[in-house]
Amino acid sequence: MPASILIGAQWGDEGKGRVADWLAADADVVARYAGGDNAGHTVVVQDKVYKLHLIPSGILHDHVMCVLGNGMVINPVNLVREIKGLEAEGVSVTPENLLISTRAHIISPAHTALDAASEAQRGADKIGTTLRGIGPAYMDKTGRSGLRIGQMQDIELFAEALHLQLRTTSDRLVKQGFAALNADDEVAIYIEAANFLRPFIADTSDYLNKRLKAGARVLCEGAQGTLLDVDHGDYPFVTSSSPTSGGALTGLGIGPLSVDEVVGVAKAFSTRVGSGPMPTELDGDIATRLRGTGENFWDEFGTTTGRPRRCGWLDAVVLRYAAAVNGFTEMVLTKLDILSGIDTLQIATAYQVGDRRYETNPSTMAEQERAQPIYESLPGWQEDLSGIRQWSALPEAARAYIDRVAALCDTPIRTVSVGPERDQLVHRN
Ligand code: GDP
Ligand code: IMO
Ligand code: MG
Repeated sequence: MPASILIGAQWGDEGKGRVADWLAADADVVARYAGGDNAGHTVVVQDKVYKLHLIPSGILHDHVMCVLGNGMVINPVNLVREIKGLEAEGVSVTPENLLISTRAHIISPAHTALDAASEAQRGADKIGTTLRGIGPAYMDKTGRSGLRIGQMQDIELFAEALHLQLRTTSDRLVKQGFAALNADDEVAIYIEAANFLRPFIADTSDYLNKRLKAGARVLCEGAQGTLLDVDHGDYPFVTSSSPTSGGALTGLGIGPLSVDEVVGVAKAFSTRVGSGPMPTELDGDIATRLRGTGENFWDEFGTTTGRPRRCGWLDAVVLRYAAAVNGFTEMVLTKLDILSGIDTLQIATAYQVGDRRYETNPSTMAEQERAQPIYESLPGWQEDLSGIRQWSALPEAARAYIDRVAALCDTPIRTVSVGPERDQLVHRN
Protein backbone atom coordinates (compact mmCIF):
# COMPACT_ATOMS: atom_id res chain seq x y z
CA MET A 1 0.00 0.00 0.00
CA PRO A 2 1.22 3.50 -0.69
CA ALA A 3 1.93 6.62 1.37
CA SER A 4 -0.36 9.49 2.40
CA ILE A 5 1.00 12.92 3.24
CA LEU A 6 -0.77 15.12 5.78
CA ILE A 7 -0.02 18.83 5.60
CA GLY A 8 -1.01 22.03 7.39
CA ALA A 9 -2.66 24.34 4.83
CA GLN A 10 -2.15 27.60 6.77
CA TRP A 11 0.35 28.81 9.40
CA GLY A 12 0.45 25.68 11.59
CA ASP A 13 -1.84 24.51 14.42
CA GLU A 14 -4.59 23.53 11.99
CA GLY A 15 -5.35 20.35 13.94
CA LYS A 16 -2.87 18.08 12.15
CA GLY A 17 -2.37 15.98 15.29
CA ARG A 18 -6.06 15.11 15.63
CA VAL A 19 -6.38 14.34 11.90
CA ALA A 20 -3.17 12.27 11.93
CA ASP A 21 -4.59 10.31 14.88
CA TRP A 22 -7.71 9.55 12.82
CA LEU A 23 -5.76 8.49 9.70
CA ALA A 24 -3.29 6.49 11.82
CA ALA A 25 -6.07 4.01 12.60
CA ASP A 26 -5.67 2.72 9.01
CA ALA A 27 -1.89 3.17 8.77
CA ASP A 28 0.96 0.80 9.59
CA VAL A 29 3.63 3.47 9.96
CA VAL A 30 3.36 7.17 10.90
CA ALA A 31 6.44 9.26 10.10
CA ARG A 32 7.36 12.88 10.88
CA TYR A 33 9.50 14.35 8.09
CA ALA A 34 10.25 17.99 8.96
CA GLY A 35 10.80 20.37 11.85
CA GLY A 36 11.44 19.42 15.43
CA ASP A 37 9.94 20.25 18.80
CA ASN A 38 8.74 23.62 17.51
CA ALA A 39 5.66 21.53 16.65
CA GLY A 40 2.90 20.93 19.17
CA HIS A 41 0.30 18.38 18.05
CA THR A 42 -2.71 17.78 20.29
CA VAL A 43 -4.56 14.48 20.31
CA VAL A 44 -7.50 13.81 22.64
CA VAL A 45 -8.52 10.27 23.45
CA GLN A 46 -11.40 9.81 25.89
CA ASP A 47 -10.86 13.17 27.60
CA LYS A 48 -7.13 12.59 27.93
CA VAL A 49 -5.15 15.36 26.22
CA TYR A 50 -1.78 14.41 24.71
CA LYS A 51 0.55 17.16 23.48
CA LEU A 52 3.17 15.73 21.14
CA HIS A 53 6.19 17.70 19.96
CA LEU A 54 8.58 15.23 18.32
CA ILE A 55 6.82 11.89 18.47
CA PRO A 56 4.28 11.20 15.69
CA SER A 57 0.59 11.19 16.62
CA GLY A 58 0.46 7.51 15.60
CA ILE A 59 2.05 6.59 18.95
CA LEU A 60 -1.44 6.45 20.49
CA HIS A 61 -2.32 3.43 18.32
CA ASP A 62 -0.82 0.12 19.47
CA HIS A 63 -0.38 -1.28 15.95
CA VAL A 64 1.56 1.70 14.54
CA MET A 65 5.34 2.01 14.06
CA CYS A 66 6.44 5.64 14.46
CA VAL A 67 9.39 7.14 12.60
CA LEU A 68 11.37 10.36 13.09
CA GLY A 69 12.68 10.97 9.60
CA ASN A 70 15.98 12.34 8.27
CA GLY A 71 14.41 15.73 7.50
CA MET A 72 13.87 16.47 11.18
CA VAL A 73 16.05 18.33 13.64
CA ILE A 74 15.92 16.59 17.00
CA ASN A 75 16.79 17.78 20.48
CA PRO A 76 17.72 14.43 22.10
CA VAL A 77 17.21 15.69 25.65
CA ASN A 78 13.69 16.92 24.85
CA LEU A 79 12.96 13.68 23.01
CA VAL A 80 13.91 11.60 26.05
CA ARG A 81 11.70 13.88 28.20
CA GLU A 82 8.78 13.37 25.79
CA ILE A 83 9.24 9.58 25.74
CA LYS A 84 9.35 9.44 29.55
CA GLY A 85 6.32 11.76 29.80
CA LEU A 86 4.32 9.44 27.55
CA GLU A 87 5.47 6.39 29.51
CA ALA A 88 4.25 8.11 32.70
CA GLU A 89 0.85 8.51 31.03
CA GLY A 90 0.73 4.82 30.20
CA VAL A 91 1.85 5.06 26.54
CA SER A 92 4.67 2.63 25.90
CA VAL A 93 7.48 4.00 23.67
CA THR A 94 10.18 1.46 22.80
CA PRO A 95 12.29 0.55 19.75
CA GLU A 96 9.34 -1.71 18.87
CA ASN A 97 7.20 1.35 18.04
CA LEU A 98 9.65 4.23 17.49
CA LEU A 99 12.62 4.56 15.13
CA ILE A 100 14.89 7.61 14.79
CA SER A 101 16.78 8.29 11.58
CA THR A 102 20.58 8.12 11.65
CA ARG A 103 20.46 11.04 9.20
CA ALA A 104 18.31 13.42 11.27
CA HIS A 105 20.21 16.40 12.68
CA ILE A 106 20.83 17.12 16.34
CA ILE A 107 19.72 20.31 18.08
CA SER A 108 22.23 21.19 20.79
CA PRO A 109 22.30 23.99 23.39
CA ALA A 110 24.46 25.85 20.86
CA HIS A 111 21.42 26.07 18.56
CA THR A 112 18.92 27.13 21.23
CA ALA A 113 21.34 29.83 22.43
CA LEU A 114 21.91 31.05 18.85
CA ASP A 115 18.14 31.12 18.23
CA ALA A 116 17.64 33.37 21.27
CA ALA A 117 20.61 35.58 20.32
CA SER A 118 19.38 35.98 16.75
CA GLU A 119 15.88 36.96 17.90
CA ALA A 120 17.35 39.47 20.39
CA GLN A 121 19.53 41.00 17.66
CA ARG A 122 16.57 41.34 15.29
CA GLY A 123 14.71 43.37 17.92
CA ALA A 124 11.39 44.65 16.52
CA ASP A 125 11.94 42.61 13.32
CA LYS A 126 12.11 39.30 15.17
CA ILE A 127 10.55 36.22 13.57
CA GLY A 128 8.84 35.19 16.80
CA THR A 129 10.42 31.73 16.72
CA THR A 130 9.62 29.03 19.24
CA LEU A 131 13.22 29.39 20.56
CA ARG A 132 13.79 25.66 20.11
CA GLY A 133 16.98 26.14 18.06
CA ILE A 134 15.32 25.09 14.80
CA GLY A 135 16.80 27.75 12.47
CA PRO A 136 20.41 27.45 13.68
CA ALA A 137 20.25 23.62 13.50
CA TYR A 138 19.08 23.72 9.86
CA MET A 139 21.77 26.35 9.15
CA ASP A 140 24.42 23.93 10.42
CA LYS A 141 22.84 21.17 8.31
CA THR A 142 22.95 23.13 5.06
CA GLY A 143 26.34 24.59 6.08
CA ARG A 144 27.58 20.99 6.33
CA SER A 145 28.76 21.35 9.90
CA GLY A 146 25.83 19.74 11.74
CA LEU A 147 25.88 16.69 13.99
CA ARG A 148 23.62 13.81 13.00
CA ILE A 149 21.77 11.30 15.17
CA GLY A 150 23.88 8.44 13.77
CA GLN A 151 26.96 9.99 15.41
CA MET A 152 25.45 9.22 18.83
CA GLN A 153 26.30 5.57 18.16
CA ASP A 154 29.96 6.26 18.96
CA ILE A 155 29.74 8.07 22.27
CA GLU A 156 33.38 9.16 22.54
CA LEU A 157 33.53 10.71 19.09
CA PHE A 158 30.06 12.23 19.58
CA ALA A 159 31.07 13.84 22.90
CA GLU A 160 34.19 15.28 21.28
CA ALA A 161 32.31 16.74 18.31
CA LEU A 162 29.56 18.19 20.52
CA HIS A 163 32.12 19.70 22.90
CA LEU A 164 33.83 21.41 19.97
CA GLN A 165 30.51 22.75 18.63
CA LEU A 166 29.60 24.13 22.06
CA ARG A 167 33.00 25.74 22.66
CA THR A 168 33.10 27.39 19.24
CA THR A 169 29.55 28.70 19.60
CA SER A 170 30.20 29.88 23.14
CA ASP A 171 33.19 31.95 21.96
CA ARG A 172 31.03 33.47 19.21
CA LEU A 173 28.21 34.30 21.63
CA VAL A 174 30.51 35.85 24.23
CA LYS A 175 32.07 38.10 21.55
CA GLN A 176 28.56 39.34 20.75
CA GLY A 177 27.78 40.07 24.42
CA PHE A 178 25.73 36.95 25.21
CA ALA A 179 26.26 34.44 28.03
CA ALA A 180 28.80 31.62 27.65
CA LEU A 181 27.74 27.97 27.36
CA ASN A 182 28.90 25.35 29.84
CA ALA A 183 30.23 22.76 27.42
CA ASP A 184 31.22 20.15 30.06
CA ASP A 185 27.79 20.09 31.74
CA GLU A 186 25.86 20.08 28.47
CA VAL A 187 27.95 17.26 26.98
CA ALA A 188 27.30 15.12 30.07
CA ILE A 189 23.53 15.66 29.69
CA TYR A 190 23.70 14.80 25.97
CA ILE A 191 25.72 11.63 26.59
CA GLU A 192 22.99 10.42 28.94
CA ALA A 193 20.32 11.14 26.31
CA ALA A 194 22.40 9.47 23.57
CA ASN A 195 22.78 6.31 25.66
CA PHE A 196 19.02 6.21 26.20
CA LEU A 197 18.19 6.77 22.53
CA ARG A 198 20.78 4.49 20.93
CA PRO A 199 18.48 1.43 20.62
CA PHE A 200 15.94 3.53 18.67
CA ILE A 201 18.39 4.64 15.95
CA ALA A 202 17.98 3.12 12.46
CA ASP A 203 18.27 3.76 8.73
CA THR A 204 14.63 4.83 8.48
CA SER A 205 14.65 5.46 4.72
CA ASP A 206 15.65 1.84 4.17
CA TYR A 207 12.99 0.74 6.70
CA LEU A 208 10.22 2.80 5.06
CA ASN A 209 11.03 1.66 1.54
CA LYS A 210 11.03 -1.99 2.60
CA ARG A 211 7.69 -1.56 4.40
CA LEU A 212 6.18 0.26 1.39
CA LYS A 213 7.37 -2.51 -0.90
CA ALA A 214 5.78 -5.09 1.39
CA GLY A 215 2.43 -3.27 1.17
CA ALA A 216 2.38 -1.18 4.34
CA ARG A 217 0.42 2.10 4.47
CA VAL A 218 2.70 4.97 5.56
CA LEU A 219 1.24 8.22 6.87
CA CYS A 220 3.67 11.14 6.58
CA GLU A 221 2.70 13.57 9.36
CA GLY A 222 3.54 17.14 8.47
CA ALA A 223 4.46 19.73 11.06
CA GLN A 224 4.11 23.52 10.82
CA GLY A 225 2.18 24.68 7.74
CA THR A 226 2.46 25.65 4.07
CA LEU A 227 2.85 29.39 4.79
CA LEU A 228 5.72 28.60 7.18
CA ASP A 229 7.68 26.67 4.50
CA VAL A 230 11.15 28.11 3.91
CA ASP A 231 10.55 28.19 0.12
CA HIS A 232 6.80 28.62 -0.24
CA GLY A 233 5.93 30.54 2.94
CA ASP A 234 6.06 34.22 3.89
CA TYR A 235 9.88 34.42 3.85
CA PRO A 236 11.58 35.47 6.13
CA PHE A 237 8.71 34.92 8.61
CA VAL A 238 8.90 31.16 8.17
CA THR A 239 10.46 28.15 9.81
CA SER A 240 13.68 26.71 8.33
CA SER A 241 12.33 23.43 6.96
CA SER A 242 10.04 22.22 4.15
CA PRO A 243 6.66 21.30 5.63
CA THR A 244 5.12 21.06 2.13
CA SER A 245 4.64 17.79 0.24
CA GLY A 246 8.07 17.84 -1.44
CA GLY A 247 9.57 17.95 2.05
CA ALA A 248 7.95 14.64 2.88
CA LEU A 249 9.89 12.93 0.09
CA THR A 250 13.29 14.41 0.95
CA GLY A 251 12.54 14.29 4.68
CA LEU A 252 11.89 10.53 4.59
CA GLY A 253 13.83 9.31 1.56
CA ILE A 254 10.88 7.83 -0.32
CA GLY A 255 9.96 8.28 -3.97
CA PRO A 256 7.04 10.34 -5.36
CA LEU A 257 5.28 7.35 -6.93
CA SER A 258 4.71 5.81 -3.51
CA VAL A 259 2.35 8.69 -2.63
CA ASP A 260 -1.34 8.38 -3.53
CA GLU A 261 -2.94 10.93 -1.17
CA VAL A 262 -2.04 14.44 -0.04
CA VAL A 263 -4.43 15.59 2.67
CA GLY A 264 -4.49 19.27 3.60
CA VAL A 265 -5.65 20.20 7.08
CA ALA A 266 -7.28 23.63 7.25
CA LYS A 267 -8.80 25.37 10.25
CA ALA A 268 -12.24 26.89 9.59
CA PHE A 269 -10.74 30.32 10.36
CA SER A 270 -7.14 31.64 10.28
CA THR A 271 -4.59 31.69 13.07
CA ARG A 272 -0.93 32.55 13.19
CA VAL A 273 1.61 32.71 16.01
CA GLY A 274 4.77 34.76 15.52
CA SER A 275 5.44 37.66 13.17
CA GLY A 276 4.65 38.04 9.46
CA PRO A 277 1.80 38.96 7.13
CA MET A 278 -1.75 37.77 7.82
CA PRO A 279 -4.13 39.69 5.55
CA THR A 280 -7.38 38.55 7.22
CA GLU A 281 -6.18 39.22 10.80
CA LEU A 282 -8.88 40.67 13.08
CA ASP A 283 -8.76 42.51 16.35
CA GLY A 284 -11.39 43.41 18.90
CA ASP A 285 -14.39 41.29 19.90
CA ILE A 286 -14.47 38.95 16.92
CA ALA A 287 -10.77 38.04 17.33
CA THR A 288 -11.34 37.37 21.03
CA ARG A 289 -14.39 35.29 20.12
CA LEU A 290 -12.34 33.12 17.70
CA ARG A 291 -9.35 32.85 20.06
CA GLY A 292 -11.30 31.94 23.20
CA THR A 293 -10.25 32.95 26.69
CA GLY A 294 -7.78 30.15 27.31
CA GLU A 295 -10.15 28.29 29.62
CA ASN A 296 -10.49 25.44 27.08
CA PHE A 297 -7.32 23.57 26.05
CA TRP A 298 -8.35 24.03 22.40
CA ASP A 299 -8.48 27.84 22.66
CA GLU A 300 -5.97 29.63 20.46
CA PHE A 301 -2.89 29.71 22.67
CA GLY A 302 0.28 27.99 21.42
CA THR A 303 0.67 24.28 22.27
CA THR A 304 4.46 24.69 22.46
CA THR A 305 4.90 28.25 23.74
CA GLY A 306 1.54 29.27 25.26
CA ARG A 307 1.55 32.48 23.18
CA PRO A 308 -1.89 33.85 22.17
CA ARG A 309 -2.44 33.16 18.46
CA ARG A 310 -3.41 35.94 16.06
CA CYS A 311 -6.89 35.18 14.67
CA GLY A 312 -8.77 36.15 11.51
CA TRP A 313 -11.33 35.11 8.90
CA LEU A 314 -10.71 32.11 6.69
CA ASP A 315 -8.41 33.01 3.80
CA ALA A 316 -9.24 31.06 0.64
CA VAL A 317 -6.31 32.72 -1.17
CA VAL A 318 -3.99 30.92 1.24
CA LEU A 319 -5.88 27.63 0.92
CA ARG A 320 -5.95 27.80 -2.90
CA TYR A 321 -2.21 28.42 -2.85
CA ALA A 322 -1.62 25.55 -0.39
CA ALA A 323 -3.73 23.20 -2.52
CA ALA A 324 -1.59 24.06 -5.56
CA VAL A 325 1.84 23.97 -3.89
CA ASN A 326 1.17 20.63 -2.17
CA GLY A 327 -1.16 19.00 -4.69
CA PHE A 328 -3.92 18.32 -2.16
CA THR A 329 -6.20 15.46 -3.11
CA GLU A 330 -8.61 16.55 -0.35
CA MET A 331 -8.87 18.88 2.63
CA VAL A 332 -10.14 18.31 6.16
CA LEU A 333 -11.72 21.36 7.81
CA THR A 334 -11.21 21.59 11.59
CA LYS A 335 -12.74 23.66 14.41
CA LEU A 336 -15.97 24.21 12.51
CA ASP A 337 -17.72 24.14 15.91
CA ILE A 338 -15.98 27.37 16.90
CA LEU A 339 -17.87 29.33 14.21
CA SER A 340 -21.31 28.55 15.72
CA GLY A 341 -23.12 31.67 16.91
CA ILE A 342 -21.48 34.17 14.56
CA ASP A 343 -24.23 35.85 12.47
CA THR A 344 -22.21 36.55 9.34
CA LEU A 345 -18.98 34.82 8.31
CA GLN A 346 -16.42 36.27 5.93
CA ILE A 347 -14.07 34.41 3.58
CA ALA A 348 -11.27 36.19 1.71
CA THR A 349 -11.56 35.11 -1.94
CA ALA A 350 -8.83 37.33 -3.43
CA TYR A 351 -6.40 40.13 -2.50
CA GLN A 352 -6.12 43.62 -3.87
CA VAL A 353 -2.52 44.87 -4.01
CA GLY A 354 -2.50 48.38 -5.45
CA ASP A 355 -4.32 48.06 -8.77
CA ARG A 356 -3.62 44.34 -9.10
CA ARG A 357 -5.90 41.50 -8.00
CA TYR A 358 -4.40 38.23 -6.71
CA GLU A 359 -6.26 34.91 -6.61
CA THR A 360 -3.26 33.14 -5.09
CA ASN A 361 -0.53 34.18 -2.67
CA PRO A 362 1.72 37.02 -3.90
CA SER A 363 5.34 35.88 -4.08
CA THR A 364 7.12 38.85 -2.51
CA MET A 365 7.00 40.18 1.02
CA ALA A 366 6.40 43.73 -0.30
CA GLU A 367 3.17 42.59 -2.00
CA GLN A 368 2.10 40.36 0.90
CA GLU A 369 2.41 43.23 3.36
CA ARG A 370 0.15 45.45 1.21
CA ALA A 371 -2.44 42.76 0.42
CA GLN A 372 -6.01 43.84 1.18
CA PRO A 373 -8.46 40.93 1.39
CA ILE A 374 -11.57 40.97 -0.79
CA TYR A 375 -14.32 39.33 1.25
CA GLU A 376 -17.40 37.31 0.49
CA SER A 377 -20.07 37.17 3.23
CA LEU A 378 -21.87 33.96 4.13
CA PRO A 379 -24.67 33.44 6.64
CA GLY A 380 -23.52 31.83 9.90
CA TRP A 381 -25.41 29.29 12.04
CA GLN A 382 -26.41 29.23 15.70
CA GLU A 383 -26.51 25.48 16.40
CA ASP A 384 -23.83 23.77 18.50
CA LEU A 385 -22.04 21.34 16.15
CA SER A 386 -20.01 19.41 18.71
CA GLY A 387 -22.51 16.54 19.05
CA ILE A 388 -23.19 16.13 15.31
CA ARG A 389 -21.89 12.95 13.60
CA GLN A 390 -23.98 12.87 10.40
CA TRP A 391 -23.32 15.16 7.44
CA SER A 392 -27.05 15.59 6.89
CA ALA A 393 -27.44 16.81 10.50
CA LEU A 394 -25.07 19.76 9.93
CA PRO A 395 -26.98 23.06 9.63
CA GLU A 396 -27.57 24.08 6.01
CA ALA A 397 -25.44 27.21 6.48
CA ALA A 398 -22.52 25.10 7.74
CA ARG A 399 -22.77 22.80 4.71
CA ALA A 400 -22.90 25.84 2.43
CA TYR A 401 -19.76 27.23 4.14
CA ILE A 402 -17.87 23.94 3.64
CA ASP A 403 -18.97 23.65 0.02
CA ARG A 404 -17.97 27.24 -0.72
CA VAL A 405 -14.48 26.68 0.72
CA ALA A 406 -14.07 23.50 -1.33
CA ALA A 407 -15.23 25.29 -4.49
CA LEU A 408 -12.94 28.30 -3.89
CA CYS A 409 -9.94 25.94 -3.60
CA ASP A 410 -11.11 23.42 -6.18
CA THR A 411 -10.40 20.66 -3.63
CA PRO A 412 -12.94 18.26 -2.14
CA ILE A 413 -13.76 18.42 1.59
CA ARG A 414 -15.15 15.09 2.74
CA THR A 415 -14.41 15.34 6.45
CA VAL A 416 -14.91 18.10 9.01
CA SER A 417 -13.96 18.21 12.67
CA VAL A 418 -16.42 19.56 15.23
CA GLY A 419 -14.41 19.07 18.42
CA PRO A 420 -11.01 17.85 19.58
CA GLU A 421 -12.05 14.31 20.65
CA ARG A 422 -11.19 11.34 18.46
CA ASP A 423 -14.85 10.72 17.53
CA GLN A 424 -15.81 14.36 16.83
CA LEU A 425 -15.50 13.98 13.06
CA VAL A 426 -18.25 14.22 10.47
CA HIS A 427 -17.82 12.44 7.14
CA ARG A 428 -19.73 13.27 3.97
CA ASN A 429 -21.73 10.25 2.89
P1 GDP B 1 -1.55 20.97 15.14
O1 GDP B 1 -0.26 21.61 15.51
O2 GDP B 1 -1.93 21.23 13.71
O3 GDP B 1 -1.60 19.51 15.47
O4 GDP B 1 -2.67 21.69 16.02
P2 GDP B 1 -2.58 22.06 17.60
O5 GDP B 1 -2.74 20.82 18.38
O6 GDP B 1 -1.38 22.90 17.88
O7 GDP B 1 -3.82 23.03 17.76
C1 GDP B 1 -5.11 22.63 17.46
C2 GDP B 1 -5.99 22.74 18.73
O8 GDP B 1 -7.34 22.64 18.34
C3 GDP B 1 -5.74 21.61 19.71
O9 GDP B 1 -5.99 22.06 21.03
C4 GDP B 1 -6.80 20.58 19.31
O10 GDP B 1 -7.18 19.73 20.38
C5 GDP B 1 -7.94 21.48 18.94
N1 GDP B 1 -8.84 20.96 17.91
C6 GDP B 1 -8.57 20.24 16.79
N2 GDP B 1 -9.69 20.07 16.05
C7 GDP B 1 -10.68 20.69 16.73
C8 GDP B 1 -12.07 20.90 16.46
O11 GDP B 1 -12.63 20.47 15.46
N3 GDP B 1 -12.77 21.64 17.38
C9 GDP B 1 -12.20 22.15 18.51
N4 GDP B 1 -12.95 22.87 19.35
N5 GDP B 1 -10.90 21.97 18.78
C10 GDP B 1 -10.16 21.26 17.90
P1 IMO C 1 2.72 22.86 14.48
O1 IMO C 1 3.35 21.61 13.91
C1 IMO C 1 2.53 27.21 14.55
C2 IMO C 1 6.25 29.36 13.73
C3 IMO C 1 6.81 30.19 14.88
C4 IMO C 1 7.47 31.32 14.11
C5 IMO C 1 8.06 30.57 12.89
C6 IMO C 1 9.51 30.19 13.05
O2 IMO C 1 2.27 22.71 15.88
O3 IMO C 1 1.67 23.38 13.56
P2 IMO C 1 10.77 28.30 14.44
O4 IMO C 1 10.83 28.04 15.91
O5 IMO C 1 10.23 27.14 13.65
O6 IMO C 1 12.06 28.80 13.88
O7 IMO C 1 9.72 29.52 14.28
O8 IMO C 1 7.28 29.41 12.73
N1 IMO C 1 6.01 27.94 14.04
C7 IMO C 1 4.79 27.42 14.26
N2 IMO C 1 3.59 28.02 14.34
N3 IMO C 1 2.62 25.86 14.66
C8 IMO C 1 3.82 25.26 14.55
O9 IMO C 1 3.96 23.90 14.54
C9 IMO C 1 4.99 26.04 14.38
N4 IMO C 1 6.29 25.76 14.27
C10 IMO C 1 6.91 26.93 14.04
O10 IMO C 1 5.78 30.66 15.71
O11 IMO C 1 6.50 32.21 13.63
MG1 MG D 1 0.50 22.94 16.91
